Amino acid sequence: MNTKERELLEFDSKHLWHPYTSIETPNPTYLVQSANGVRIRLQDGRELIDGMASWWSVIHGYNHPELNAAIRNQTSKCAHVMFGGLTHSPAIELAKKLLRVAPGDLNRLFYADSGSVAVEVAMKMAIQYYHAKNRTGKNRFLTVRSGYHGDTFHGMSVCDPVTGMHNIYKGVLPEYYFAEKIRSPFHGDWDPDDINSLQALLGKNHQQICAVILEPIVQGAGGMRFYHPEYLRITRKLCDDYDVLLILDEIATGFGRSGELFGCNHAAVTPDIMCLGKALTGGYMTLSAVLATENVGRVISDGDPGVFMHGPTFMGNPLACAVAAGSIDLLLSSDWKRNIQRIESKLISGLAPCKDLTGVVDVRILGAIGVVELKNPVELASIQRLFVDKGVWVRPFGCLVYIMPPYIITDEDLDILTRAICQVVEKVL
Ligand SMILES: Cc1ncc(COP(=O)(O)O)c(C=O)c1O
Repeated sequence: MNTKERELLEFDSKHLWHPYTSIETPNPTYLVQSANGVRIRLQDGRELIDGMASWWSVIHGYNHPELNAAIRNQTSKCAHVMFGGLTHSPAIELAKKLLRVAPGDLNRLFYADSGSVAVEVAMKMAIQYYHAKNRTGKNRFLTVRSGYHGDTFHGMSVCDPVTGMHNIYKGVLPEYYFAEKIRSPFHGDWDPDDINSLQALLGKNHQQICAVILEPIVQGAGGMRFYHPEYLRITRKLCDDYDVLLILDEIATGFGRSGELFGCNHAAVTPDIMCLGKALTGGYMTLSAVLATENVGRVISDGDPGVFMHGPTFMGNPLACAVAAGSIDLLLSSDWKRNIQRIESKLISGLAPCKDLTGVVDVRILGAIGVVELKNPVELASIQRLFVDKGVWVRPFGCLVYIMPPYIITDEDLDILTRAICQVVEKVL
C-alpha cells in the first residue's frame, strides 16, 4: 500500500461512519479503485468477484456502457429540477415502463429517494387512505416476524422486533402487530396453520389496522428466508375480507432477483401499494418508487386534506430516472428469466457441499439468491478478510453467509464464488 492509499484509509477510519459500525473498533474497509462488470478492483490492484451486487442493486454489473451513456446524455440536458410544478420526460418514460410491468392495476406512482423512504411513503399512504375515509383510528400496521423494511423510524417499526432495533428505540418507535414467523418454506409443503397468527391478529384488531406490510416471498435482511406463496395468497384475501390494505415491499425482490419479475408474481397476488428501490436504477443511483392503485390515489385525494402529504427535494431526479429507464430496458430486452434459472442451478450445485459441514444449519437457494445459514454468528472482520484473500466480495451478517451476484456473472465466476464460500465456511467452522 502506498502513502496516498494509507492516508485515505486512515482518514476514512478516523472520520467516516460506515453502515452499522463503531468508531471505537472500526471494521477494516477496503479501498476501491474502480469496478467493472462483476469485478471490484481494489486500490492495491487486487480484483474481487462481486457476490453482493452492492446489496441487491447492481444487476447489470458495474460500469455498463449503456447505463453510463444514459446518465451522460441526461446530464447534458438537465441533471436535476424540482418536481413540484415541473415534470420531465425521464420521470414520465420511467413511469410508463414501471406501470406496464407492474402487477395488477397499480396505476399511480410516487418517486422517493431510497428504499426506506419508499416504505415511509407507502405507510403514510395507508394512514392517509383511512384518514380520508374518516376512519382515523385505522392507523396501525400488521407485519410478520423476520422482516426488514429499512432504517428510518416507520421502516424500523415493522422490522423484526428482535433482530431489528426495537430495544434501543423503545418508547419512540410505534409498536405494531407482529404475526409469528412463517414456517412453510418456498420449496416445501404449505402448512395451513401457518396463517393462524396473522389471521387472529387481523380478526381481533382490523378496526385499528390500516395495512399489512410484507416482503413478498423473500425476507431479506431480517433472516434471508424464502416462504410459501400460499401465505401471500391467503393474506391478500384476508386483507380484502377485513378492509385492510396490502403493502408489498419489493425493494429487494423487484426486477427478477427471485426468478419472477416481482416476488408477488410467485403467488399471482397484487398489492394495493408496492415499494420499489435498489435494482431500480441498476444500482447506479439512489431512487425508489411507490406504486398504488387508482382507488388508493382517489380516496386519498378526495378526502381531507385532499393531497398526499409528501414531497422530497430530489423527487424524480432526472439522472436517476434516466438510468432506471435504461436499466429496465436492458433487463427486459434480455432473456432474464432463463438467465436467473442458470444462476439458480449453479448456486444449487455450487453451494451443495456446504450442506455436509457440521455447523451449517441450512443451505437455500431461490433465483439468484444463495444462502448458507450457520449455527453461530460469524466474526465479520476475519471472515471478510478470508473472502478477500480468495478474490471474492461476500459480506455475511450474523449467522448468514449469502450472495446475490449481478445477473451478468458467468458460470466460471459463479464457480469461483461458490467454491470460495464452501472453503471459507469450512475454515471458519
Ligand atoms: C425489503 C427492504 N425494504 C427496505 C429496504 C431499505 O432500503 P434502503 O437501504 O435503500 O433505504 C431494504 C434494504 O435492504 C430492503 O431489503
